[in-house]
This record gives sequence, structure tokens and C-alpha cells, in this order.
Amino acid sequence: MTTVLLTGATGYIGSHTWLALKHAGYDVVGVDNFANSSPQVLDRLATLLGEAPVFEEADVNDAAAMTRVVSAHGAQAVVHFAAHKAVGESAEKPLEYFRNNLGGLVNVAQAMADQDVFALVFSSSATVYGQPETLPIAESAALSATNPYGLTKLMGEQLLRELERCDPRWKIGYLRYFNPVGAHPSGLIGEDPRGIPNNLMPYVAQVAVGKRPFLQVYGNDYDTPDGTGVRDYIHVLDLAAGHVAAVRHLLERKQSLTVNLGTGQGYSVLDVIRAFERASGRAVPFKTVARRPGDVAACYADATLARELLGWQAERGIDAMCEDAWRWQSRNPQGYAPALGAAD
Ligand code: NAD
Ligand code: WQD
Repeated sequence: MTTVLLTGATGYIGSHTWLALKHAGYDVVGVDNFANSSPQVLDRLATLLGEAPVFEEADVNDAAAMTRVVSAHGAQAVVHFAAHKAVGESAEKPLEYFRNNLGGLVNVAQAMADQDVFALVFSSSATVYGQPETLPIAESAALSATNPYGLTKLMGEQLLRELERCDPRWKIGYLRYFNPVGAHPSGLIGEDPRGIPNNLMPYVAQVAVGKRPFLQVYGNDYDTPDGTGVRDYIHVLDLAAGHVAAVRHLLERKQSLTVNLGTGQGYSVLDVIRAFERASGRAVPFKTVARRPGDVAACYADATLARELLGWQAERGIDAMCEDAWRWQSRNPQGYAPALGAAD
């Protein structure tokens, strides 16, 4: 049996990837410090898996803990999701982002090297393309950072490329996610942002369920078909399947790879609103406001390389993304928060 260690395992993408790896026949050990997730995820995973998930509560910055976890479970590959991810917050607390996202990465890589484990998947992001010059965006496009969060992804990639240049035993999957949305179709796990959502889909879902009165559409004067921002939304189940393919590639082909994980299809903010209204049967009122600083007009992937190298492509469209996001939101209006009156 091959064991894969997931850091940030109880987070949004980690929890879905956990299920996908288990269903593909891997053993999984999850690590998280619950900085941005709930222990309840573990109960939900137990229900979905039919067994207790193997989990260690630890901070990826804790060197002793990470070395112990990698060795105790005999992990052969690591998927490193653990990071802070809020763009706006990163400008307020850049050092915290550098410490957690880059310090954590170095620490995890050190714990792996100490145990002779050299297969690593790194959660990168389309944010490394900065202000894209051409669309769709291929992996060969110019890279830049426009905020501290983006810099941690760009520098994380650079640091790992230098690591594998110095020690070719490293085989690294640089997965550049576009805009992950949706939820597991069971409605048991999904995205549970704390406070006011920064991202479009969870905000739209909270408006549809009545938790927020209206959506603010950030600008309708972009150079796009309807003037609103265009993004490449990808169902989190497709994203999870991309991780399974990447882990398999690293362990079996023993080659590093850098790929976009997107659908290749762009949708505008208004497209998303309409799709969500169709999926939920609810109105999503909105007001157009000024552009959000730092936003690009359009960002969508050239998804060819992942198909060629991994035999992977996204299968779910915008309707499935909204239907699954709605099932999660409507069944868990307070996210993972315990129901009122529940014990403790
Ligand atoms: P998330 O916040 O839901 O999950 C991240 C998990 O990491 C959380 O459970 C958090 O508690 C944990 N974590 C953070 N710091 C930790 C630490 N020091 N030690 C242990 N655990 C820690 O975010 P997500 O959306 O699942 O994102 C996963 C990864 O994908 C992140 O690296 C993120 O930057 C990257 N990414 C996300 C998106 C997106 O839009 N969701 C897009 C591109 C890339
Ligand atoms: C999508 C579109 C907004 C909210 C961010 C990060 C990126 C990546 C994914 C991690 C844009 C518009 C949004 C709202 C709106 N994360 N919008 N009203 O900005 O593409 O990417 O998350 O790596 O780094 O920057 O995603 O969901 O925030 O926005 O009109 O309340 O929706 O302007 O056009 P974005 P998003």
C-alpha cells in the first residue's frame, strides 16, 4: 500500500483530495492545525469513507512533529496544501504569510528529506501568472506576483525548483489551480470560509441561502463580453482527481511536472450568478460597485498540458459546480458550525 501524507488535509481542497486518494486505493494520513478548518471535517470524512480517517493534529512549522509524522506513517509522497490563502489579509500580515507559507514549505521538505521521501505535490495557483498577457494562459507564460500571498506561491515554486536542481532525487508536481468551487455531491463536505467570504462562489451561495442580502459585483466595465470579470472555475472534485493523477505520475513515472488545473473555459460574474440561480431556484440580487483593486479582467487556463502529461481533464461544468455548491450551502447554512443546542 502506498501512503500519501496531506498537509492542510481538513481544508477545502485537502478534504476532497483525501476522499479521492482513498477511492483510488491510497492510504492517507492527514495533518492540519485547524488554522482555517474544523475538526468536524474528520467526522464527515469518516461517514464518507466508512472508517476513521488517519489524522495528526500538527503545525507544519513544527519540525519535530513533521519529522515524526512522515516517519511514523511511512509516507511515500506528500501533498502540501497547508497555507494561508486570503489575498487581502496577506497585504495586512505579509510576514505571517511568508512564515506560514514559505517557512512551512521548507519545514515539510526538510522532514521529507530526513526520511528519504522525495515525491511532493505543491499547491500552486494561477496567481503566479500575475496580470496575464495572453489568454488562455499556458504554463510557459511569464510569472509575477501582485500581492504577498501570490509571492509565497511564486517563491514556493522557485525554491522547490532550486531544490530539485541541487538534488535530482526530488520529484515535484507544481499544480497551478485556477478557481476551485463546488463541493462533494453528498453535501457533507464543502468550502466553509470564516467571516465574510472573499471569493465569488461562497458569497453567491450565502446570498442565495439568505445569509447576505446581495452580492457586490466588482466592476462591469472590464474588456470582457459582459463587462464583468471572467475566471476559470473548476469543480473541486475534478481538482482532487488532478492530485491523484499527479501523485501517481510522481511515484510511477518519477518525473516532475508543472501543470495548470483548470477547465480552459471562462465564465463571467454574471454567468456565475445566472448558473447559481438556475441550480438553487433562488434569486441572487446584486449591485454593481467599483472594481476590486488588484483584479484582472480575465484569467483562464490552457488546460492542454495536464491532459497530455497526466491524462487528466476537468469533467464537470458550471451547472454541476453550482448544484453541488448549493447542496452544501443549503444543507449546512452555518458551515461546519455545530447546530444550535448541540452538545458543547
Ligand atoms: P483551506 O484554508 O481550506 O485549507 C488549508 C488548510 O491548511 C486549512 O485546513 C488550514 O487549517 C491548514 N493550515 C494552514 N496553516 C497550517 C499550518 N501551519 N499547519 C498545519 N495546517 C495548516 O484552503 P484551500 O482552498 O483548501 O487551499 C489549499 C491550498 O491550495 C493552499 O495552499 C492554497 O494556497 C492553494 N490554493 C487555493 C486556491 C483556492 O482558491 N481555494 C487557489 C489556488 C491555490
Ligand atoms: C472571482 C471574480 C471578482 C467576489 C482569488 C485569488 C487567487 C486564488 C483564487 C488562491 C472576480 C468577482 C468576487 C465578490 C465579485 N486563490 N467577485 N464579487 O480573484 O479570481 O482569485 O481566489 O490562490 O489567488 O486572487 O477569485 O472568487 O475572489 O473572484 O464580483 O464578492 O468574481 O472581481 O472577477 P479571484 P474570486
